[in-house]
Amino acid sequence: MKTYLVTGGAGFIGSNFVLYMLRKHDDIRIVNVDALTYAGNLENLASIEGDDRHVFLHADIRDEKAMSDALATYQPDYVINFAAESHVDRSIADPGIFADTNVMGTVNLLNCCRAAWDDGKGGFGDHRYLQVGTDEVYGTLAIPEKINPDGSPADPEHTDYFRETTPLNPHSPYSASKTSADLFVKAYHDTYGFPAVITRCSNNYGPFQFPEKLIPLMIHNALNHRELPVYGDGLNVRDWLYVDDHCKAIDMVATGGRLGEVYNVGGHNERANIYIVKTIIAEVAKVTGDEAVNEGLIRHVTDRAGHDRRYGMAPDKIREELGWYPETPYEEGIVKTIRWYLDNPEWVDHVTSGSYQEYYARMYDGR
Ligand SMILES: NC(=O)c1ccc[n+]([C@@H]2O[C@H](COP(=O)([O-])OP(=O)(O)OC[C@H]3O[C@@H](n4cnc5c(N)ncnc54)[C@H](O)[C@@H]3O)[C@@H](O)[C@H]2O)c1
Repeated sequence: MKTYLVTGGAGFIGSNFVLYMLRKHDDIRIVNVDALTYAGNLENLASIEGDDRHVFLHADIRDEKAMSDALATYQPDYVINFAAESHVDRSIADPGIFADTNVMGTVNLLNCCRAAWDDGKGGFGDHRYLQVGTDEVYGTLAIPEKINPDGSPADPEHTDYFRETTPLNPHSPYSASKTSADLFVKAYHDTYGFPAVITRCSNNYGPFQFPEKLIPLMIHNALNHRELPVYGDGLNVRDWLYVDDHCKAIDMVATGGRLGEVYNVGGHNERANIYIVKTIIAEVAKVTGDEAVNEGLIRHVTDRAGHDRRYGMAPDKIREELGWYPETPYEEGIVKTIRWYLDNPEWVDHVTSGSYQEYYARMYDGR
Protein backbone atom coordinates (compact mmCIF):
# COMPACT_ATOMS: atom_id res chain seq x y z
CA MET A 1 0.00 0.00 0.00
CA LYS A 2 1.40 3.42 -0.99
CA THR A 3 1.02 6.45 1.25
CA TYR A 4 0.56 9.94 -0.17
CA LEU A 5 1.11 13.00 1.98
CA VAL A 6 -0.98 15.73 0.36
CA THR A 7 -0.68 19.32 1.58
CA GLY A 8 -3.53 21.79 1.05
CA GLY A 9 -5.95 18.88 0.72
CA ALA A 10 -8.85 20.87 2.18
CA GLY A 11 -8.59 23.50 -0.57
CA PHE A 12 -10.23 23.44 -3.97
CA ILE A 13 -7.86 21.31 -6.07
CA GLY A 14 -6.36 19.43 -3.12
CA SER A 15 -9.75 18.18 -1.90
CA ASN A 16 -10.76 17.19 -5.43
CA PHE A 17 -7.45 15.31 -5.66
CA VAL A 18 -8.05 13.44 -2.38
CA LEU A 19 -11.55 12.43 -3.52
CA TYR A 20 -10.29 11.49 -7.00
CA MET A 21 -7.47 9.32 -5.66
CA LEU A 22 -9.70 7.47 -3.18
CA ARG A 23 -12.22 6.85 -5.98
CA LYS A 24 -9.54 5.54 -8.36
CA HIS A 25 -7.32 3.52 -6.06
CA ASP A 26 -8.38 1.09 -3.30
CA ASP A 27 -4.91 0.36 -2.04
CA ILE A 28 -3.63 3.78 -1.00
CA ARG A 29 -3.62 5.91 2.13
CA ILE A 30 -3.74 9.70 2.08
CA VAL A 31 -2.40 11.87 4.86
CA ASN A 32 -3.92 15.29 4.34
CA VAL A 33 -2.00 18.22 5.88
CA ASP A 34 -3.81 21.54 5.83
CA ALA A 35 -3.56 24.71 7.93
CA LEU A 36 -7.25 25.48 7.25
CA THR A 37 -6.83 29.09 6.19
CA TYR A 38 -9.92 30.89 4.88
CA ALA A 39 -9.52 28.71 1.71
CA GLY A 40 -9.43 25.36 3.53
CA ASN A 41 -12.80 23.72 3.99
CA LEU A 42 -13.22 20.27 5.51
CA GLU A 43 -16.81 20.17 4.28
CA ASN A 44 -15.26 19.41 0.86
CA LEU A 45 -14.28 16.04 2.32
CA ALA A 46 -17.55 15.21 4.08
CA SER A 47 -18.23 12.34 1.64
CA ILE A 48 -15.15 10.42 2.90
CA GLU A 49 -15.80 10.84 6.60
CA GLY A 50 -15.07 7.54 8.29
CA ASP A 51 -12.90 6.27 5.40
CA ASP A 52 -9.81 4.83 7.11
CA ARG A 53 -7.70 5.48 4.04
CA HIS A 54 -7.83 9.24 4.79
CA VAL A 55 -6.09 10.88 7.75
CA PHE A 56 -6.45 14.63 8.33
CA LEU A 57 -3.71 16.62 10.09
CA HIS A 58 -4.35 20.23 11.02
CA ALA A 59 -0.84 21.60 10.46
CA ASP A 60 1.14 24.27 8.66
CA ILE A 61 3.75 23.47 6.00
CA ARG A 62 5.95 26.20 7.52
CA ASP A 63 6.10 24.29 10.82
CA GLU A 64 9.30 22.24 10.82
CA LYS A 65 8.40 20.04 13.78
CA ALA A 66 4.90 19.29 12.54
CA MET A 67 6.15 18.35 9.06
CA SER A 68 9.04 16.23 10.37
CA ASP A 69 6.68 14.45 12.77
CA ALA A 70 4.15 13.78 9.99
CA LEU A 71 6.87 12.33 7.74
CA ALA A 72 8.24 10.17 10.57
CA THR A 73 4.83 8.93 11.68
CA TYR A 74 3.26 8.14 8.31
CA GLN A 75 6.36 7.43 6.18
CA PRO A 76 4.79 8.62 2.92
CA ASP A 77 6.05 7.33 -0.41
CA TYR A 78 4.90 10.48 -2.17
CA VAL A 79 4.52 14.10 -1.06
CA ILE A 80 2.29 16.32 -3.20
CA ASN A 81 2.45 20.01 -2.32
CA PHE A 82 -0.76 21.88 -3.15
CA ALA A 83 -0.70 24.13 -0.06
CA ALA A 84 -0.44 27.77 -1.03
CA GLU A 85 -1.97 31.17 -0.92
CA SER A 86 -3.60 31.07 -4.33
CA HIS A 87 -5.54 34.25 -5.08
CA VAL A 88 -3.82 36.88 -7.27
CA ASP A 89 -5.95 39.78 -6.00
CA ARG A 90 -5.04 38.96 -2.39
CA SER A 91 -1.35 38.86 -3.37
CA ILE A 92 -1.60 42.37 -4.78
CA ALA A 93 -3.13 43.59 -1.51
CA ASP A 94 -0.77 41.65 0.79
CA PRO A 95 2.30 40.06 -0.86
CA GLY A 96 4.12 39.06 2.35
CA ILE A 97 2.03 36.03 3.23
CA PHE A 98 2.56 34.73 -0.33
CA ALA A 99 6.35 34.78 0.13
CA ASP A 100 5.92 33.21 3.54
CA THR A 101 3.59 30.34 2.65
CA ASN A 102 4.42 29.68 -0.99
CA VAL A 103 8.20 30.13 -0.83
CA MET A 104 9.25 29.52 2.78
CA GLY A 105 6.58 26.85 3.30
CA THR A 106 7.86 24.98 0.25
CA VAL A 107 11.50 25.32 1.37
CA ASN A 108 10.58 23.98 4.82
CA LEU A 109 8.74 21.03 3.29
CA LEU A 110 11.71 20.28 1.01
CA ASN A 111 14.10 20.39 3.97
CA CYS A 112 11.92 18.08 6.06
CA CYS A 113 11.49 15.59 3.19
CA ARG A 114 15.19 15.71 2.41
CA ALA A 115 16.06 14.89 6.03
CA ALA A 116 13.40 12.20 6.36
CA TRP A 117 14.16 10.47 3.05
CA ASP A 118 17.98 10.56 3.14
CA ASP A 119 19.11 6.92 2.89
CA GLY A 120 22.63 7.74 4.15
CA LYS A 121 24.12 6.70 0.78
CA GLY A 122 23.46 9.93 -1.10
CA GLY A 123 20.04 8.78 -2.26
CA PHE A 124 16.37 9.05 -1.26
CA GLY A 125 15.04 5.55 -1.93
CA ASP A 126 11.88 5.41 -4.02
CA HIS A 127 10.37 8.55 -2.51
CA ARG A 128 9.01 11.25 -4.80
CA TYR A 129 7.97 14.88 -4.28
CA LEU A 130 5.58 16.70 -6.62
CA GLN A 131 5.26 20.49 -6.59
CA VAL A 132 1.96 21.81 -7.93
CA GLY A 133 2.79 24.91 -9.95
CA THR A 134 1.00 27.30 -12.24
CA ASP A 135 1.12 28.56 -15.84
CA GLU A 136 1.29 32.09 -14.40
CA VAL A 137 5.06 31.65 -13.94
CA TYR A 138 5.45 32.13 -17.70
CA GLY A 139 3.95 35.63 -17.77
CA THR A 140 1.62 36.48 -20.60
CA LEU A 141 1.01 35.66 -24.26
CA ALA A 142 -0.31 38.00 -26.93
CA ILE A 143 -3.87 37.57 -28.18
CA PRO A 144 -3.58 35.98 -31.67
CA GLU A 145 -4.59 38.12 -34.63
CA LYS A 146 -7.54 35.92 -35.47
CA ILE A 147 -9.75 34.63 -32.67
CA ASN A 148 -13.08 32.80 -32.53
CA PRO A 149 -16.05 34.56 -30.92
CA ASP A 150 -15.32 32.69 -27.65
CA GLY A 151 -11.77 34.10 -27.50
CA SER A 152 -9.97 30.89 -28.53
CA PRO A 153 -7.33 31.08 -31.30
CA ALA A 154 -8.85 30.67 -34.78
CA ASP A 155 -5.59 29.17 -36.02
CA PRO A 156 -4.23 27.00 -33.18
CA GLU A 157 -1.47 25.59 -35.41
CA HIS A 158 0.17 28.99 -35.78
CA THR A 159 -0.41 30.34 -32.29
CA ASP A 160 2.05 30.82 -29.42
CA TYR A 161 1.68 28.64 -26.33
CA PHE A 162 3.54 28.25 -23.06
CA ARG A 163 5.96 25.33 -23.20
CA GLU A 164 8.12 23.93 -20.42
CA THR A 165 11.05 25.78 -22.05
CA THR A 166 9.29 29.18 -22.09
CA PRO A 167 11.31 31.66 -19.98
CA LEU A 168 9.91 32.37 -16.53
CA ASN A 169 8.46 35.88 -16.37
CA PRO A 170 5.99 36.27 -13.49
CA HIS A 171 4.09 39.54 -13.06
CA SER A 172 2.02 39.33 -9.87
CA PRO A 173 3.29 38.73 -6.33
CA TYR A 174 1.39 35.42 -6.45
CA SER A 175 3.13 34.22 -9.60
CA ALA A 176 6.49 35.52 -8.36
CA SER A 177 6.09 33.41 -5.21
CA LYS A 178 5.10 30.32 -7.21
CA THR A 179 8.06 30.83 -9.58
CA SER A 180 10.40 31.13 -6.64
CA ALA A 181 9.01 27.93 -5.09
CA ASP A 182 9.52 26.07 -8.41
CA LEU A 183 13.11 27.28 -8.56
CA PHE A 184 13.81 26.01 -5.04
CA VAL A 185 12.38 22.62 -6.00
CA LYS A 186 14.57 22.56 -9.12
CA ALA A 187 17.61 23.62 -7.07
CA TYR A 188 17.03 20.81 -4.55
CA HIS A 189 16.86 18.35 -7.43
CA ASP A 190 19.94 19.74 -9.18
CA THR A 191 22.02 20.22 -6.01
CA TYR A 192 21.09 17.26 -3.83
CA GLY A 193 19.55 14.86 -6.34
CA PHE A 194 16.28 15.37 -4.45
CA PRO A 195 13.55 13.31 -6.19
CA ALA A 196 11.24 16.08 -7.31
CA VAL A 197 9.02 16.81 -10.27
CA ILE A 198 6.98 19.93 -11.04
CA THR A 199 3.59 20.30 -12.74
CA ARG A 200 2.32 23.65 -14.02
CA CYS A 201 -1.36 23.83 -14.72
CA SER A 202 -3.71 26.36 -16.21
CA ASN A 203 -6.87 27.74 -14.55
CA ASN A 204 -8.88 24.99 -12.88
CA TYR A 205 -12.63 24.95 -12.40
CA GLY A 206 -15.12 22.49 -10.94
CA PRO A 207 -16.80 21.61 -7.61
CA PHE A 208 -15.63 23.05 -4.25
CA GLN A 209 -13.94 26.18 -5.60
CA PHE A 210 -14.02 29.08 -3.16
CA PRO A 211 -16.36 31.72 -4.60
CA GLU A 212 -13.71 34.43 -4.83
CA LYS A 213 -12.51 32.95 -8.16
CA LEU A 214 -14.13 33.86 -11.47
CA ILE A 215 -16.42 30.91 -12.23
CA PRO A 216 -17.97 30.23 -8.77
CA LEU A 217 -18.18 33.99 -8.11
CA MET A 218 -20.19 34.55 -11.29
CA ILE A 219 -22.46 31.56 -10.67
CA HIS A 220 -23.14 32.71 -7.12
CA ASN A 221 -23.78 36.34 -8.11
CA ALA A 222 -26.00 35.35 -11.06
CA LEU A 223 -28.15 33.15 -8.82
CA ASN A 224 -28.55 36.07 -6.41
CA HIS A 225 -29.19 38.69 -9.13
CA ARG A 226 -26.04 40.54 -8.12
CA GLU A 227 -23.85 42.46 -10.54
CA LEU A 228 -21.28 40.39 -12.44
CA PRO A 229 -18.03 42.38 -12.20
CA VAL A 230 -15.80 41.82 -15.24
CA TYR A 231 -12.25 43.20 -15.19
CA GLY A 232 -11.45 45.70 -17.98
CA ASP A 233 -12.76 44.79 -21.44
CA GLY A 234 -13.27 41.13 -20.45
CA LEU A 235 -11.04 39.93 -23.30
CA ASN A 236 -8.36 38.38 -21.07
CA VAL A 237 -8.00 34.74 -22.06
CA ARG A 238 -7.40 31.77 -19.76
CA ASP A 239 -6.98 28.08 -20.61
CA TRP A 240 -9.68 26.31 -18.56
CA LEU A 241 -8.91 22.90 -17.10
CA TYR A 242 -11.61 20.77 -15.48
CA VAL A 243 -10.29 19.87 -12.03
CA ASP A 244 -10.63 16.08 -12.44
CA ASP A 245 -8.47 16.24 -15.57
CA HIS A 246 -5.85 18.03 -13.48
CA CYS A 247 -6.10 15.41 -10.70
CA LYS A 248 -5.53 12.67 -13.26
CA ALA A 249 -2.42 14.47 -14.51
CA ILE A 250 -1.00 14.77 -11.00
CA ASP A 251 -1.67 11.11 -10.31
CA MET A 252 0.23 10.19 -13.50
CA VAL A 253 3.15 12.60 -13.03
CA ALA A 254 3.59 11.72 -9.33
CA THR A 255 4.30 8.10 -10.18
CA GLY A 256 5.47 8.24 -13.82
CA GLY A 257 6.99 11.68 -14.50
CA ARG A 258 10.74 11.94 -14.95
CA LEU A 259 12.47 13.42 -11.90
CA GLY A 260 13.82 16.93 -12.34
CA GLU A 261 11.33 17.62 -15.13
CA VAL A 262 8.47 20.10 -15.50
CA TYR A 263 5.14 19.06 -17.06
CA ASN A 264 2.65 21.61 -18.35
CA VAL A 265 -0.95 20.60 -17.76
CA GLY A 266 -3.37 22.55 -19.90
CA GLY A 267 -6.75 22.16 -21.43
CA HIS A 268 -6.53 23.60 -24.96
CA ASN A 269 -9.72 25.20 -23.70
CA GLU A 270 -8.90 28.89 -24.14
CA ARG A 271 -11.81 31.23 -23.57
CA ALA A 272 -12.12 34.99 -22.96
CA ASN A 273 -13.46 35.98 -19.53
CA ILE A 274 -16.47 37.74 -21.01
CA TYR A 275 -17.42 34.57 -22.89
CA ILE A 276 -17.20 32.57 -19.64
CA VAL A 277 -19.51 35.05 -17.93
CA LYS A 278 -22.02 34.93 -20.79
CA THR A 279 -22.10 31.11 -20.85
CA ILE A 280 -22.70 31.10 -17.09
CA ILE A 281 -25.59 33.56 -17.46
CA ALA A 282 -27.14 31.48 -20.26
CA GLU A 283 -26.82 28.18 -18.38
CA VAL A 284 -28.04 29.50 -15.02
CA ALA A 285 -31.02 31.15 -16.76
CA LYS A 286 -31.78 27.93 -18.62
CA VAL A 287 -31.64 25.70 -15.55
CA THR A 288 -33.52 28.03 -13.18
CA GLY A 289 -35.89 29.57 -15.75
CA ASP A 290 -35.18 32.88 -14.03
CA GLU A 291 -35.50 35.79 -16.49
CA ALA A 292 -33.76 38.19 -14.09
CA VAL A 293 -30.53 36.31 -14.83
CA ASN A 294 -29.47 38.08 -18.01
CA GLU A 295 -26.57 40.01 -19.52
CA GLY A 296 -27.85 43.23 -17.94
CA LEU A 297 -26.10 42.03 -14.75
CA ILE A 298 -22.64 42.42 -16.35
CA ARG A 299 -20.62 45.41 -15.14
CA HIS A 300 -17.16 46.17 -16.48
CA VAL A 301 -14.90 47.30 -13.59
CA THR A 302 -11.35 48.74 -13.41
CA ASP A 303 -8.86 46.17 -14.62
CA ARG A 304 -6.63 44.22 -12.21
CA ALA A 305 -3.13 45.80 -11.92
CA GLY A 306 -0.60 43.95 -14.10
CA HIS A 307 -3.39 41.73 -15.51
CA ASP A 308 -1.86 39.12 -17.85
CA ARG A 309 -3.63 39.14 -21.20
CA ARG A 310 -3.56 35.53 -22.24
CA TYR A 311 -2.47 32.14 -20.90
CA GLY A 312 -2.38 29.14 -23.22
CA MET A 313 -0.65 25.84 -22.56
CA ALA A 314 0.92 23.30 -24.88
CA PRO A 315 0.48 20.01 -22.98
CA ASP A 316 2.46 18.06 -25.61
CA LYS A 317 5.14 16.73 -23.26
CA ILE A 318 2.74 15.12 -20.76
CA ARG A 319 0.72 13.67 -23.63
CA GLU A 320 3.75 12.21 -25.39
CA GLU A 321 5.50 10.86 -22.27
CA LEU A 322 2.57 9.80 -20.11
CA GLY A 323 -0.44 9.66 -22.43
CA TRP A 324 -2.36 12.34 -20.51
CA TYR A 325 -4.77 14.62 -22.30
CA PRO A 326 -7.64 16.83 -21.06
CA GLU A 327 -10.83 14.80 -21.42
CA THR A 328 -13.37 17.49 -20.57
CA PRO A 329 -14.21 20.18 -23.13
CA TYR A 330 -15.08 23.53 -21.57
CA GLU A 331 -18.70 23.37 -22.76
CA GLU A 332 -19.21 20.07 -20.90
CA GLY A 333 -17.21 21.00 -17.78
CA ILE A 334 -18.95 24.32 -17.25
CA VAL A 335 -22.40 22.68 -17.33
CA LYS A 336 -21.27 20.03 -14.81
CA THR A 337 -19.83 22.77 -12.60
CA ILE A 338 -22.91 25.00 -12.67
CA ARG A 339 -25.15 22.01 -11.89
CA TRP A 340 -22.89 21.12 -8.96
CA TYR A 341 -23.25 24.62 -7.45
CA LEU A 342 -27.01 24.50 -7.99
CA ASP A 343 -27.25 21.06 -6.40
CA ASN A 344 -25.15 22.03 -3.36
CA PRO A 345 -26.74 25.21 -2.00
CA GLU A 346 -25.77 24.27 1.58
CA TRP A 347 -22.08 24.14 0.72
CA VAL A 348 -22.35 27.53 -1.01
CA ASP A 349 -24.34 29.01 1.91
CA HIS A 350 -21.81 27.82 4.46
CA VAL A 351 -18.87 29.16 2.47
CA THR A 352 -20.43 32.52 1.74
CA SER A 353 -21.66 32.99 5.31
CA GLY A 354 -18.35 31.86 6.82
CA SER A 355 -20.04 29.09 8.82
CA TYR A 356 -17.94 26.41 7.06
CA GLN A 357 -15.17 27.42 9.46
CA GLU A 358 -17.18 26.06 12.38
CA TYR A 359 -17.28 22.64 10.72
CA TYR A 360 -13.81 21.71 11.95
CA ALA A 361 -14.70 22.56 15.54
CA ARG A 362 -18.03 20.75 15.20
CA MET A 363 -16.51 17.62 13.66
CA TYR A 364 -13.11 17.36 15.27
CA ASP A 365 -12.83 19.34 18.53
CA GLY A 366 -13.05 17.17 21.59
CA ARG A 367 -12.63 13.96 19.59
N1 LIG B 1 -6.95 27.08 -8.78
C1 LIG B 1 -6.27 27.17 -9.91
O1 LIG B 1 -6.83 27.44 -10.97
C2 LIG B 1 -4.78 26.92 -9.93
C3 LIG B 1 -4.09 27.07 -11.13
C4 LIG B 1 -2.72 26.82 -11.16
C5 LIG B 1 -2.07 26.40 -10.01
N2 LIG B 1 -2.75 26.28 -8.86
C6 LIG B 1 -2.01 25.83 -7.66
O2 LIG B 1 -2.66 24.68 -7.15
C7 LIG B 1 -2.56 24.63 -5.72
C8 LIG B 1 -3.94 24.51 -5.12
O3 LIG B 1 -4.73 25.62 -5.55
P1 LIG B 1 -6.24 25.81 -5.04
O4 LIG B 1 -6.95 26.61 -6.05
O5 LIG B 1 -6.77 24.50 -4.62
O6 LIG B 1 -5.98 26.70 -3.76
P2 LIG B 1 -6.91 26.97 -2.50
O7 LIG B 1 -6.61 28.38 -2.08
O8 LIG B 1 -8.32 26.59 -2.79
O9 LIG B 1 -6.38 25.95 -1.39
C9 LIG B 1 -5.15 26.10 -0.76
C10 LIG B 1 -5.16 25.20 0.47
O10 LIG B 1 -3.88 25.31 1.09
C11 LIG B 1 -4.08 25.46 2.50
N3 LIG B 1 -2.95 26.20 3.04
C12 LIG B 1 -2.64 27.52 2.84
N4 LIG B 1 -1.54 27.83 3.52
C13 LIG B 1 -1.12 26.71 4.15
C14 LIG B 1 -0.03 26.40 4.99
N5 LIG B 1 0.87 27.32 5.34
N6 LIG B 1 0.11 25.12 5.44
C15 LIG B 1 -0.80 24.17 5.12
N7 LIG B 1 -1.87 24.42 4.33
C16 LIG B 1 -2.02 25.67 3.85
C17 LIG B 1 -5.39 26.19 2.63
O11 LIG B 1 -5.98 26.01 3.92
C18 LIG B 1 -6.20 25.57 1.51
O12 LIG B 1 -6.86 24.40 1.95
C19 LIG B 1 -1.83 25.91 -5.31
O13 LIG B 1 -0.47 25.60 -5.13
C20 LIG B 1 -2.01 26.84 -6.51
O14 LIG B 1 -0.94 27.75 -6.63
C21 LIG B 1 -4.09 26.55 -8.78
